[in-house]
Amino acid sequence: MLMRSAQPPLRVAGLTKRFGGLVAVRNLGFEIHRGEILGLIGPNGSGKSTVMKLIMGVERATAGRIVLEGTDIAGWPTHRIAQHGIGIVFQHSRPLHRQTVLENIKLALLPDSLFKLVAEPHVDRRARDIAIQVGLEAVMDRRPPTLPFADLRRLEIAKVLARDPKVVLVDEPFAGLTSAEIAMFSEIIDGFRREGRAVLLVDHNVKSVAALVDRVLALYLGEYVAEGTTEQVMTMRPSVASILAAG
Ligand SMILES: Nc1ncnc2c1ncn2[C@@H]1O[C@H](COP(=O)(O)OP(=O)(O)OP(=O)(O)O)[C@@H](O)[C@H]1O
Ligand SMILES: [Mg+2]
Repeated sequence: MLMRSAQPPLRVAGLTKRFGGLVAVRNLGFEIHRGEILGLIGPNGSGKSTVMKLIMGVERATAGRIVLEGTDIAGWPTHRIAQHGIGIVFQHSRPLHRQTVLENIKLALLPDSLFKLVAEPHVDRRARDIAIQVGLEAVMDRRPPTLPFADLRRLEIAKVLARDPKVVLVDEPFAGLTSAEIAMFSEIIDGFRREGRAVLLVDHNVKSVAALVDRVLALYLGEYVAEGTTEQVMTMRPSVASILAAG
C-alpha cells in the first residue's frame, strides 16, 4: 500500500450544484488519496455524474471548493483542469475518426503540438506502451469507426492515460460490456491505483464496483448518505442498500 501524503491529490468541500430549483449536489465533501479508488454509488439522478462534471469543470459549481494538490480549481475551465492533472474517462468515446488508434493516442500525448505527430520517436514509443497497457496492441493501426465498442472504450482510457493524470474520474465504465470485458476493464482501473493515481469511480454494477474500490460514498438525491468500505455501507441501518436500490 502507498503512503498517504498529508495532502490528498483531491479534496472536495461544501460542493453544491443547483439547476434552477433542483439541488443536484448538496454540500458534499470527500477526499481521495494517492493509490486509492473511491466509489460513488447511488440511484439514478442522485448526482454522481454531476459531481464528476463539477470536478472536471464541465459544469460550474454553485458553491464549494475543489482542491487539486492544494490549489482550488473550482471555476477553472476544463482544459486548464486537465493540464493540472485531472482526467475523465467519458462513457461515450470521441476519437478522431480519420486518425488511427495510435495517432489518436499520440495526439493526446501532445495536445498542444500537432506538428510533432510524425517526428518524435519517444512519443511513438510511449503511445505504443499505452496502447499495449489498455489492450489495443492488435488494433493500433486501425481507425476508430472500424472498432468494436469495448475497444473504443479502451481508446478513451488510453487518451486519458496519455495526459498522466493524478486524479482519474471514471463514469460508468462497465455499461454495455460483457463480464469478460468488465474483468478486463477492472484490471485497467486497478492499474490506475497501482500507478498511484487517485480514482473516482461510478457504476451501476455494484458488484464490480465493490470488488475494486477501497471505499464507497453513497449519495441520495444529491446528499451524502454514508461512507466506508462497501460492506460497512451496505450493512448500515437504516438500510442504505434499500435506499440505493430505490433507483
Ligand atoms: N444540465 C442539467 N440541467 C438540469 N438538471 C440536470 C442537469 N444535469 C443533471 N441534472 C439533474 O441533476 C440530478 C442529478 O443528475 P446526475 O446525472 O448527476 O445523476 P446520476 O447520479 O449520475 O444518475 P445516473 O445514475 O442516472 O447516471 C438529476 O435530477 C438530473 O435530472
Ligand atoms: Mg450518471
